[in-house]
Amino acid sequence: GIERTFSIIKPDATRRNLTGKINAMFEDGGLRIVAQKRIRMTREQAETFYGVHKERAFFNDLVEFMTSGPVVVQVLEGENAILRNREIMGATNPANADEGTVRATYGESVEANSVHGSDAPETAAEEIAFFFAGSEITG
Ligand code: CMP
Repeated sequence: GIERTFSIIKPDATRRNLTGKINAMFEDGGLRIVAQKRIRMTREQAETFYGVHKERAFFNDLVEFMTSGPVVVQVLEGENAILRNREIMGATNPANADEGTVRATYGESVEANSVHGSDAPETAAEEIAFFFAGSEITG
């Protein structure tokens, strides 16, 4: 069915002016950008958003990185959008991502991997609500 997923174009990608190229990959892959804004994440937002990773060794670096420059937060809509977006992004580590995916094409490292996407329907709903009011999303 039609789903919505949450996406972030990360600082490594906005720094290299890749927002449009990455958005074209989402759109060409069948997803519709139904909400989008460019923001500078605060430390508090990054720590809360990635709270599930707070015990991981990479947590502090991840928060530093995600607040190091602008990001584009987005809601993507389409048939099986959560899985579809994960296919378009490729594996978390760009070294393991399939050719033609966003992370294989643009990712620099497991941290600077250009995009985030929700991993399940529950997290998609939570992540969308964390950054967007319902009134900001229009199909
Ligand atoms: P993301 O989908 O944004 O969710 C958590 C992020 O942590 C992940 O993408 C990676 O960019 C980042 N990260 C940094 N180091 C690691 C690591 N060693 N293992 C997994 N994720 C990592």
